[in-house]
Amino acid sequence: MWTCEQVTGSALDVAEVAALYRTSTLAERRPVEDVQRFTRMLAGANLVIVARDADGRLIGISRSLTDGAYATYLSDLAVDAAYQGKGVGRGLIEATRQAAPEASLILLAAPAAVDYYPHIGFTPHGSAWTMEGPATPA
Ligand SMILES: CC(C)(COP(=O)(O)OP(=O)(O)OC[C@H]1O[C@@H](n2cnc3c(N)ncnc32)[C@H](O)[C@@H]1OP(=O)(O)O)[C@@H](O)C(=O)NCCC(=O)NCCS
Repeated sequence: MWTCEQVTGSALDVAEVAALYRTSTLAERRPVEDVQRFTRMLAGANLVIVARDADGRLIGISRSLTDGAYATYLSDLAVDAAYQGKGVGRGLIEATRQAAPEASLILLAAPAAVDYYPHIGFTPHGSAWTMEGPATPA
């Protein structure tokens, strides 16, 4: 049994979320070891949904930036490896959509998830572009 709820990013326990990023494998592609930057990441997202098991343990997270009306940029979706394949990711995405129902969801898939998003209803976009920030650490 698990439940989803919307939370405030700045109220999250940074160490607890970092542990989830590691158990989900997303830590391989996010600056989890830079605690100060990771803390700012968590505080800066304005649409955060967490999933917890029956004991209250954090087992999933969806972190997005949204204007609440047109676009929701889903930055990070992570589910504890022990809970993957049980619908937690789908539930987190659905809760994210419901929190800003007029907004389209936009994301870049991690290599491990390129087949996941089409499977749960996302449409590929042939013209997605990224540019790193001028101060992105090497
Ligand atoms: C990708 C991830 C978020 C999916 O969450 P999840 O809770 O395991 O997925 P769900 O249980 O919601 O899966 C829903 C459906 O997608 C399928 N699915 C799950 N992971 C998949 C994958 N990597 N590729 C293709 N299909 C996948 C499930 O089998 C399920 O299918 P069904 O509804 O037909 O039975 C999770 O596996 C994860 O955290 N992976 C590591 C971190 C990562 O890569 N995050 C993505 C960042 S963009």
